Amino acid sequence: MRVPGTIAFHDLGHVEEKFRDAVLEGLAAPAKHIPCKFLYDARGSALFEQICELPEYYPTRTEMRLLRHYGADIAAVIGTGAQIVEFGSGASRKSRILLDALDRPQMYVPIDVSRQHLRTSAEALARDYGGLEVVAICGDYTRHVPLPPPGPGRRVGFFPGSTIGNFKPAEAQAFLVSWRDRLSGGGMLVGVDLKKDAAVLHAAYNDAAGVTADFNLNLLARINRELAGDFDLAAFAHIAYWDAAEGGIGSESESRREQTVHVAGQAVRFVAGERIHTEDSYKYTIDEFRDLARAADFRAERVWSDPQHLFSLHYLSAV
Ligand code: AVJ
Repeated sequence: MRVPGTIAFHDLGHVEEKFRDAVLEGLAAPAKHIPCKFLYDARGSALFEQICELPEYYPTRTEMRLLRHYGADIAAVIGTGAQIVEFGSGASRKSRILLDALDRPQMYVPIDVSRQHLRTSAEALARDYGGLEVVAICGDYTRHVPLPPPGPGRRVGFFPGSTIGNFKPAEAQAFLVSWRDRLSGGGMLVGVDLKKDAAVLHAAYNDAAGVTADFNLNLLARINRELAGDFDLAAFAHIAYWDAAEGGIGSESESRREQTVHVAGQAVRFVAGERIHTEDSYKYTIDEFRDLARAADFRAERVWSDPQHLFSLHYLSAV
């Protein structure tokens, strides 16, 4: 028998090396940009957890309510002895709600880029769930991630938080396609933030306490820490706007003045008002998302939503 609190830990080791290349390439581009996965260093992950508690940031608590309220329904759809593979597990708070609802889940496989955070969360979870095998994988779930062999029940991907909204719709479809065969016979439980009143969306990404601004600007601080950067954080402003034509929130850091910044020995020039694009958060209607899933060869089997239609949870079957 496994000692409670012990986990298997696999490090795919393809994350840090890429930070430098991605930053230098993104800052040299005509439209400056940095992939949003780099927002989650230790400090960024901690700030994101603070975002989840903000009054304006409805997705986290709404999704957790859906998981609790429809837990029995979800468990019935997933079945006994499941292997749950989580994409971007963070603190695993939602996974706990899901695991509590499921009938004797066999294995939990969290995948995350934030190594230390992943290890701590996975070990804490393994301590609390004695009979569950925990196999943590440090890596980027958009790349090839080898999985442990399937167990007695279904293999089900768990992708909460509307993180799927960080992909452009075509990329979201490609992501689903890339996992479709590995989830064959099982499925995917996906949390998707819904299109809604622009003011509600705007407030969720421009909170009064400024935590989202700190989260976004932490990417520049991370460059300073890890890539010998000299960004003056006071010379950049957090911008988040609803783009109705795109159907998403864009997050950017705007240079407050003309300036030159140095990163890993390279000079990066900014004109006043120039922005670095740091994140997309696409929103869907329920029907739009179901169509996208079908286009990726999943069956849009079930959907759960709150009475205000703020958020949705979809079970996509890969049978
Ligand atoms: C958890 C990545 C989906 O896009 O809403 C929160 C991250 N960014 N506030 C999102 C985030 C700004 C969040 N995701």
